[in-house]
Amino acid sequence: MKKLHWIPTSAAAIFLLAGSMMSSASFAASENNDLIDPRNDAYEQNHPDQYQSWKATSESDHIEDALAEDPNMVIMWAGYGFAKDYNKARGHFYALDDVRQTLRTGAPQDDKSGPMPMACWSCKSPDVGRVIDERGEDGYFEGKWARLGEEIANPIGCADCHDTRSEGFKKGEPALALAKPYVDRAFQAINKPFEKQSRLDQQASVCAQCHVEYYFTGPTKAVKFPWDMGTSVDEMEQYYDALNFKDWTHKVSKAPMLKAQHPGYETWRDGVHGKNKVVCVDCHMPKVTKEDGTVYTDHKVGNPFDRFEDTCANCHTQSKEQMYEIVSSRKAQVLNMKLTAEKQIVAAHFEAGAAWDAGATDAEMKDILQDIRHAQWRWDYAIASHGVHMHAPEVALEVLGTAVDKAADARTKLVRLLAKKGITDPVVLPDISTKEAAQKALGMDMEKMNAEKAHFLDTVVPEWDKAAKERESQY
Ligand code: HEC
Ligand code: HEC
Ligand code: HEC
Ligand code: HEC
Repeated sequence: MKKLHWIPTSAAAIFLLAGSMMSSASFAASENNDLIDPRNDAYEQNHPDQYQSWKATSESDHIEDALAEDPNMVIMWAGYGFAKDYNKARGHFYALDDVRQTLRTGAPQDDKSGPMPMACWSCKSPDVGRVIDERGEDGYFEGKWARLGEEIANPIGCADCHDTRSEGFKKGEPALALAKPYVDRAFQAINKPFEKQSRLDQQASVCAQCHVEYYFTGPTKAVKFPWDMGTSVDEMEQYYDALNFKDWTHKVSKAPMLKAQHPGYETWRDGVHGKNKVVCVDCHMPKVTKEDGTVYTDHKVGNPFDRFEDTCANCHTQSKEQMYEIVSSRKAQVLNMKLTAEKQIVAAHFEAGAAWDAGATDAEMKDILQDIRHAQWRWDYAIASHGVHMHAPEVALEVLGTAVDKAADARTKLVRLLAKKGITDPVVLPDISTKEAAQKALGMDMEKMNAEKAHFLDTVVPEWDKAAKERESQY
């Protein structure tokens, strides 16, 4: 089949074709003329054990509402999508369902309406690598999220981590590969080009395609990792500051905010396992031996404690109970510091809001808003990487300590500024004791958002699925 076959015969085709020719040489394409097959079940016959264990990520289906658990976060993300809803991570199998269902992606009714850019698909599907391969990066990133909704049809899978077109893979070798050129560029920026990495490093790097900090930039709102100055919390903060980059303006404090995504790879690197080259796969994708003695990699990426004997016990002599106890107590410590930082940051947002109301000027607010930006960035860096209490608890605690410090700086300055404006009583916070109360305090119309989402899922998504099915029937 020829490449052009995949480009829709609409008026957009010419535009798309131009886009793909203009962008840099497509990445995974190499000298290989085959198309990338994004369908996970296409690999079942050749690799049944890997396929079945990959499919078992569907067993992790529980949805946990992180905002209901901690309504402070609604306030911290005021004016940004994450205040609408935010669920904890679940199985890779659900990545596509979840990005369609979240209120953050809104309810687009045509291929031009937002709110999110195409970049929002980037961590959800092997179709992303396929579309980049076929149309180039610009041809993928251009436009709003709904533009290529029908092209992105399969959840995170084989072609996200493997060069599925290589002879090695067909024979059963891992053939690990990066599916996206922007990830390759990020590794070059930290002097770790993927093709020069050791096998262990590559095993961590395939996870780093998505479990990292990234942002959207340039005319097409393309994904970039902010690693040019390094991957620590300070280095990425400097990077963003130097660019004057902000993800959004906070609705209450008007601070120019940064949203950390999930810098799991970056924090793991600085933790004790990362420093000892114990990689993601050692704990999340262990090698297992079948009854007939053959060995394969278990692709059910989930909680390593669920199969302690194949993971931790390979290197540690402690019992599962002992280990679980250690990890649980670290989890409690990190949670405690997280809440401590939140209390200060939430208060700072409202106090800044009160200062604006009292007539504070941009010049008076500048330093304060910068402190708030830095405090919240640090809080987010420390906790947005799920599992940080296991991967690098000391990093999380240290970074959260600096978040508290920055928030305290902001609040000290705010007390003085408020006094100067004649406000000496403490600023009273609204009721933010539940997710609903916090959203109400921000004047968010959740009923409307939910109704629009339901309509989108009932009308637009089935059309996407239909078109995808038709396209895939010709593979
Ligand atoms: C999130 C990344 C990821 C995804 C998704 C993924 N794999 Fe893998 N796969 C790996 C890693 C990591 C290894 C082990 C690499 C090593 O041993 O160096 C591996 C190993 C393999 C191997 C080599 C044999 C073995 O078991 O070690 C095969 C074959 C394979 N995977 C097939 C698949 C198939 C088929 C799918 C889709 C159903 C898939 N993989 C999805 C990361 C992934
Ligand atoms: C293509 C992007 C992508 C790649 C590659 C990827 N992940 Fe994920 N991962 C995600 C997303 C997105 C979620 C959340 C899915 C959801 O909640 O819908 C997730 C969820 C998880 C979870 C939570 C699972 C659960 O059941 O709660 C773990 C653990 C995880 N990933 C580890 C890894 C590891 C280890 C690797 C590398 C072997 C990896 N991931 C590679 C995107 C990716
Ligand atoms: C030394 C073992 C180990 C290594 C190495 C490791 N993890 Fe984990 N990870 C865990 C454990 C254990 C948990 C669950 C902690 C708990 O139950 O509280 C976890 C949790 C997670 C979660 C959160 C899952 C959820 O549902 O909240 C993600 C995501 C994750 N790890 C991804 C990664 C990635 C990506 C890497 C590599 C960059 C990595 N892990 C390296 C052991 C490890
Ligand atoms: C591939 C080997 C390997 C695996 C698998 C592994 N670890 Fe480790 N672990 C290490 C090494 C190496 C160290 C560092 C030892 C040292 O410095 O003394 C370490 C250290 C630790 C420490 C002490 C670090 C500290 O911060 O004080 C804990 C706790 C720990 N591991 C828990 C776990 C748990 C839980 C799992 C399974 C989810 C696990 N490890 C899986 C190799 C491993």
